Amino acid sequence: MSENAIFPPSPEFVSKAHVQGMEQYRKLYREAAGNPEAFWADIAKREIHWFEPWDHVFEWNPPFVKWFAGAKTNAAYNCIDRHLEARGDKVAILWEGEPGDVREITYKELHRLVCRFANVLKARGLKTGDRAIVYMPMVPELPVALLACARLGVIHSVVFGGFSAEALKARIQDLDACMVITADGGWRRGKEVRLKDAVDEAVQECPGVQNVIVHQRTKSQIPMREGRDHWWHELEEGVSDDCPAVPVDSEHPLYVLYTSGTTGQPKGILHTTGGYLTAILMTMKWVFDLREEDVYWCTADIGWVTGHSYVVYAPLAAGATTVMYEGAPDYPDYGRFWQTVAKHKVSIFYSSPTAIRALIKQGEKWPAMHDLSSLRLLGSVGEPINPAAWEWYYRVIGKNRCPIVDTWWQTETGGILIAPMPGAVPLKPGSGTLPLPGIIAEVVDFSGNPVAANQEGFLIIKRPWPSMIRTIWGDPERFQQQYFSRIPGVYFTGDAARQDEDGYFWILGRVDDVMNVSGHRLSTMEVESALVRHPAVAEAAVVGKPHEITGQAVCCFVTLKAGDYDLPALNKELRQWVAHEIGAFARPEEIRFAEALPKTRSGKIMRRLLREIVTTRTVTGDVTTLEDLTVVTRLAAQNDEE
Ligand code: WT7
Repeated sequence: MSENAIFPPSPEFVSKAHVQGMEQYRKLYREAAGNPEAFWADIAKREIHWFEPWDHVFEWNPPFVKWFAGAKTNAAYNCIDRHLEARGDKVAILWEGEPGDVREITYKELHRLVCRFANVLKARGLKTGDRAIVYMPMVPELPVALLACARLGVIHSVVFGGFSAEALKARIQDLDACMVITADGGWRRGKEVRLKDAVDEAVQECPGVQNVIVHQRTKSQIPMREGRDHWWHELEEGVSDDCPAVPVDSEHPLYVLYTSGTTGQPKGILHTTGGYLTAILMTMKWVFDLREEDVYWCTADIGWVTGHSYVVYAPLAAGATTVMYEGAPDYPDYGRFWQTVAKHKVSIFYSSPTAIRALIKQGEKWPAMHDLSSLRLLGSVGEPINPAAWEWYYRVIGKNRCPIVDTWWQTETGGILIAPMPGAVPLKPGSGTLPLPGIIAEVVDFSGNPVAANQEGFLIIKRPWPSMIRTIWGDPERFQQQYFSRIPGVYFTGDAARQDEDGYFWILGRVDDVMNVSGHRLSTMEVESALVRHPAVAEAAVVGKPHEITGQAVCCFVTLKAGDYDLPALNKELRQWVAHEIGAFARPEEIRFAEALPKTRSGKIMRRLLREIVTTRTVTGDVTTLEDLTVVTRLAAQNDEE
């Protein structure tokens, strides 16, 4: 497929869409750009329930922003209570476990579950502003836990179930959390992922954790520590079905979600309540063109921001039916996604290029076995979607009739910023197309000046938007330095991009030391720090290596302390070590032992050179032999000092 292919929306799609045609999109965009206060105030009033009105729409003191400050609202109230009258019996969460068990939870039932669990949290002494860590499999109790926290103004922080005990511990400590909400385990590829074991290991060094609440999912044997650990179902005995939502300030923190930055330390991205809800709900309607009867499935794990915003908060705030699936896309076979679409008549399917590419590899026979006629819209997120994957997704899954919305955003942006409104904006495969109303995006050079069409530059956002990051938990200086220092006063995304002659944005990847593996963000430094904690490792340098399915794979160059090593065994051990230190998804694809790492004369590791080695040159045979990278250094040092 050519780079220039254009797919305008079909007249049929346009006729039913909320935003119909480019004129309507442009009008909205102009209104938002011309008077952002009036634009967002109007949306916030229309879309969100407020217990009390705001003082100002927004206050912008770069890098800090407040949206709707002074107003009182509650995320759980907006996601549940206000729907009870109009759609109390509508399915809110349609859940399927990996073994095939299904639960359909109506808004009424969700209200009951959330109130009961909120009462449990209250009884354990949790109050507004306290922090609770949520480390759970993809079961309905996970969104119930989040909404129960939100109901009370308790700040939640979900740690993806694939993270190790080490990573969990670091997050509990950074947040000074007093509670961990977890489960015995969850199912993945027919095996149990034992979460409680990791919690036990992590909380040994977290004296602040007074309560661990355990949902029973797999019913396997787990130790329960007297006084600290409690079964969810036991604590719920006898609690009331009613628990009023606590009105909190619009700027009250809703959650902290850790993501990888350019250092070894993950950063806690803070999102607050009113602006976040307003923007994610609006983007849900704009980008997914949501209708009352839609069955919407975002396949992301709630452990990542995509799951927070577009599995839980936005669809529920919109009163939609949101599908949740516990397990792996290839279990029990490669047709699981398509079987699930057919079984629940999914109309909107939102997934990642990595998942699509992995399924392409298995052939068209899997989707062919299932009836996909319920689908009307497809989405993509996490990384650029390559034209071949786009074409397959469009033809084989969407049968040439479903628009694909390629949504660009980040943990920090809270919601989608660049994506097509499917009834308006013609698609170009591989491009997130145009910014949504209210988003002033530009591609600029080092000094912040816009570059010409089709020139590569840094993607920046020039004005604050309601769902943006408010700060890094406990580290406002790092917040300022990471996002607002390189080009003063504007938000620096960390992505390179170009804008074509039609103004379409093409994302070219990260400009910092951040890798994107299967759409998950991972810092090179985080993996390096994990490696050098191993007793045999002297130095480590990590780079992302292009990978046909996961986008990038983790490739590590390692030098060893003096000693005799069984290199093949050590190679295996180090890959396992990183998986243990960070999580299985971070397991390196490759460890390459080197005599020395290429460095500048001032001693900085030249990762750029290593990136070149793994991208352009073929791997030099046996990875277990020691590579003499000083050769490369000597060659490069001639023209590459600093
Ligand atoms: C980074 C953010 C947004 C939720 C999932 C990832 C890359 C994300 C796209 C896209 C090209 C994309 C960017 C971004 N990215 N979506 N549609 N096209 N690149 O969230 O872990 O915060 O990562 O993912 O590089 O900066 P995240």
